[in-house]
Amino acid sequence: MKIRVGVIFGGESVEHEVSIISAIQAMNKMDQEKYEIIPIYITKNNEWYTGAMLRDIETYQDMTLIKKYAKNVVLYYKKGRFVLQNKGFIKRVVQEIDIAFPIVHGTNVEDGILQGYLQSIGIPYVGSNVYASVTGQDKIYMKQIFTSEKLPITKYTWFYDIDYKQDSSKVLEQIHKLKFPVIIKPATLGSSVGIHTAHDDEELQEGITDAIRYDHRIVVEEIVSNLKEVNISVLGNYEVQSVSEIEEVVSSKDFLTYEEKYIGGSKKTGKFNNSKASKGMLSASRIIPAGIDEKLKEEIEDIAIKAFRVIGSSGVCRIDFLIDQKTNKPYINEINSIPGSLAFYLWEPTGKKYTELLDDMINIAVKDYKKRLNKVHSFETNILEGFNAGSKGVKGIKGLKR
Ligand SMILES: Nc1ncnc2c1ncn2[C@@H]1O[C@H](COP(=O)(O)OP(=O)(O)O)[C@@H](O)[C@H]1O
Ligand SMILES: [Mg+2]
Repeated sequence: MKIRVGVIFGGESVEHEVSIISAIQAMNKMDQEKYEIIPIYITKNNEWYTGAMLRDIETYQDMTLIKKYAKNVVLYYKKGRFVLQNKGFIKRVVQEIDIAFPIVHGTNVEDGILQGYLQSIGIPYVGSNVYASVTGQDKIYMKQIFTSEKLPITKYTWFYDIDYKQDSSKVLEQIHKLKFPVIIKPATLGSSVGIHTAHDDEELQEGITDAIRYDHRIVVEEIVSNLKEVNISVLGNYEVQSVSEIEEVVSSKDFLTYEEKYIGGSKKTGKFNNSKASKGMLSASRIIPAGIDEKLKEEIEDIAIKAFRVIGSSGVCRIDFLIDQKTNKPYINEINSIPGSLAFYLWEPTGKKYTELLDDMINIAVKDYKKRLNKVHSFETNILEGFNAGSKGVKGIKGLKR
């Protein structure tokens, strides 16, 4: 029997559309002999839909079609099965799935929130668990962990919006310990949203004012000059890891803007433009392999594997590096726990076809799941059995006021 894979995508995120593209690409590449593919689309309003039409990109041109023809469902655990059940008047199991495959990007979905739901109903799922997903999305947690593990990152500081509102001079003083220019980032966003560079105090204050519109925690870090940006993908879990080819990202601006990343329009300058990868969301110019020497390549591979393990990632992730070309020093910029297009274009040059990559990811998820099942999660004995709540009983406990 085929394994029923529920591919979950969309969601309440600025990268909603990117996720649709990533998911449709992946569903088309999954081994149809082995897997029965069930699309599960989450709208921007957090409604879940399923139906064959969701595998077709044209469906998304008219959302009313989805509401009309796809089935509005909930995913839950029912008597040993994971089911998608109709949300309508007549509650009917529409589909059963064996494993969930989140292909989602950004807040509310890639950041551990969706993973938490999947784990709470007990379904096996592909990719990083809750903890790794949270850490991957949060630029502050990530930096704190990398610092304590002595992995190279740029000098940074962070603060709460309230700290800045109450006493901006103290926050500015803290930032002045960094070397200018600096870059200001909301802690948990992606796609360059709310990110600003600052060469002086005026730009700094403008940048902070905008960044705090998006998040209550803000990071300010030193800018890497003579910048070369390279990305590498790591596949595996905490036991075994392998690394992909390295890509070099070419940008015409200070940094990649949302438009440049997803809407396109940057001048193609790469020696080699992966035509499949440069469609739509992956329209930033890229050079594969990156123009770096063997020593730096090995150093990046080594750091990437360490970062992947330290975070506790699983499946495929992409780790982005900033290189100062003068010193040849690499800094980890960020880890993407569900990269755009699942970074398949970095694996193809290594001889791993996209179909095989997807297969590997599902196999890793099954292994992770079995390992999780083998750990002790709860105790058979009910320690509340002999508990005497007194004359008030359980209701009494609930009613107790502190
Ligand atoms: N410290 C830095 N020095 C130079 N450029 C940077 C630095 N941090 C980020 N950038 C630029 O800004 C872009 C977006 O920053 P990043 O931290 O990756 O945010 P996002 O999560 O939105 O992708 C990077 O791709 C890079 O071009
Ligand atoms: Mg980035």
